[in-house]
Amino acid sequence: MSICYLNGELLPLATARISVLDRGFIFGDGVYEVIPIFDDRPFRLDEHLTRLARSLDAIALPNPHTIPQWRALVSAVVTANPPSEISLYIQVTRGPAPRNHAAPIDPTPTVFAMVSPLTSTPAPLPVATITLADIRWARCDIKAVSLLPNVMFRSAAQAAGAYEALLIRDGWLTEGAASNVFVIADGRIKTPPHSCYILPGVTRDVLVTALKGSADEVLETAISKDELLAADEVWLTSSTRDLVPVASIDGCALGAAAPGPVFRRVTSHYTQYKRAMLVTVAPLNARQRISRPSA
Ligand code: PDD
Repeated sequence: MSICYLNGELLPLATARISVLDRGFIFGDGVYEVIPIFDDRPFRLDEHLTRLARSLDAIALPNPHTIPQWRALVSAVVTANPPSEISLYIQVTRGPAPRNHAAPIDPTPTVFAMVSPLTSTPAPLPVATITLADIRWARCDIKAVSLLPNVMFRSAAQAAGAYEALLIRDGWLTEGAASNVFVIADGRIKTPPHSCYILPGVTRDVLVTALKGSADEVLETAISKDELLAADEVWLTSSTRDLVPVASIDGCALGAAAPGPVFRRVTSHYTQYKRAMLVTVAPLNARQRISRPSA
């Protein structure tokens, strides 16, 4: 059984317990991160911790740890489990408090982290997708644990025999239920720009950076639903799946057979870029002492 971290302790996942009054349980009042780790080497850890800090800031929940403390926490939970390709899930909620919509002035956050196999949601590639109306709020840039719309999107995709839902807001592509989206249209690789309607995906940003200055430079621009449906190639990005080629949208095959030529080229570039980055990452140290979050 895997070992998780809860409020300063490492313990078997099945024995971890939180209060039913935890605001994460009652209100979905919390934020999270998912960090891929390859044989004790976290990929883009600083970027994930920076996004976590931004999400906490956006919901006015004081960050319970400094960056060195987060690093020690990540190291402790990862090295308490067998080395392999894993994703580390970190969640911070506003903690237990009497039920009241208004946030407590002085919360005691709940800090939880667990590992899962990176391939826990396999799907045969390339994947089928559907389009759905993006009915979420206007702060999709916060990585909030309140994911009910995303759960509904992914479940609708699954019920339709698809892997992912591509979300459309007012006629424009935003992102997937749990991924960012890239398209090839007019011979250019395009992805929607950062805004309050998409999560600033770490994988998305790594890919945009990796391709900068190359013939495959990504254009960060608005993409209409019509442009999406007429695209030659489409792919999804996320920390748990890297790049995933899309075969069809709403039952219609894309212009180029998936995985298309641009996808193959870009994936190979991305894989090399990622490998080169990973060798510069020091493996996490053996178990370290973790200080309890400041209450
Ligand atoms: N989700 N957009 C949404 C809504 C997401 O939930 C995710 C990832 C992404 C891609 O972000 P990144 O490249 O940083 O993983 C975009 C994670 C994997 C999850 O919720 O499990």
